[in-house]
Amino acid sequence: MKLIHTASEMRAWSLARKAAGQTVGFVPTMGALHEGHASLMRAARARDDAAVLSVFVNPTQFGPEEDYDRYPRTWEADQAMAVDIGMDAIYVPDAREMYPEGYATYVMVEGVSSGLCSRTRPHFFRGVATVVTKLLNAVLPDRAYFGQKDGQQCAVIRRMARDLDMGVEIVEMPTVREPDGLAMSSRNKYLSAEERKRALCLSRSLFAARARLDAGERDGAALLDLVREGMAGVTIDYVELVDADSMCPVDRVRGRVMLAVAALVGNARLIDNIMFTPPECAG
Ligand code: PAJ
Repeated sequence: MKLIHTASEMRAWSLARKAAGQTVGFVPTMGALHEGHASLMRAARARDDAAVLSVFVNPTQFGPEEDYDRYPRTWEADQAMAVDIGMDAIYVPDAREMYPEGYATYVMVEGVSSGLCSRTRPHFFRGVATVVTKLLNAVLPDRAYFGQKDGQQCAVIRRMARDLDMGVEIVEMPTVREPDGLAMSSRNKYLSAEERKRALCLSRSLFAARARLDAGERDGAALLDLVREGMAGVTIDYVELVDADSMCPVDRVRGRVMLAVAALVGNARLIDNIMFTPPECAG
């Protein structure tokens, strides 16, 4: 497995693969890898001829009061997981090369970036869209793989790739969960045993809402109330029902929707969601 540190070396590596007629699949991450990341890597490994992982804790998507400094960094284990899965290369850019003195260019995706996570993290999607653009420009993949766990991030990247004619296929993979339902996240490392137990109410409430959706409930307020009640033990940031493409709030389920939650559990800010397409609207 090749370790690559600069954008120019990364581009040369990918161009050589493409010249040899291979497709390049790409999984961008911030490291502290878990089974959620592994599922994306396995998908790239299975579908593309060459599979690239990136590990970069991106400073521009963290606010000044957020956890950039204490974000978990587990480089040795990350590398071992990538080798185990059979990734061909890891791109590990240096923060000074990514954002040199005088760096001034940012990508802003309007509409889908508003609401949900933007309300408490107004800087977040500007940082994500910018770094993903830079990573895609270095890796030049045919396909890039993202997790539905970060549902609004998927919508932002999908929109950006379409609007800017990036010529990359955005592949979305289902959320990988712990056996008890908790969505896997690098930030779960922040939870004490007691907080870990309380954090379960996010997925439990969403699953209860899914059961109601399956039983035919289409009223937004009823679903939001149910989820809020289930999350009484944590500090809710938001509970929202939105259109799965535009991320605009909806008050009735009439097409594909995302029911999304964010909450503070101890020091950890956790997010989770479920997607739902009513059978009467499918196909
Ligand atoms: P990170 O949180 O490391 O996540 C990297 C990718 O793994 C994202 O696409 C995320 O949605 C996916 N992922 C995380 N947990 C998952 C789970 N439980 N199941 C399935 N997929 C999961 O998201 C980022 O990094 C950054 O914002 C990034 C896109 C790399 C830009 O810096």
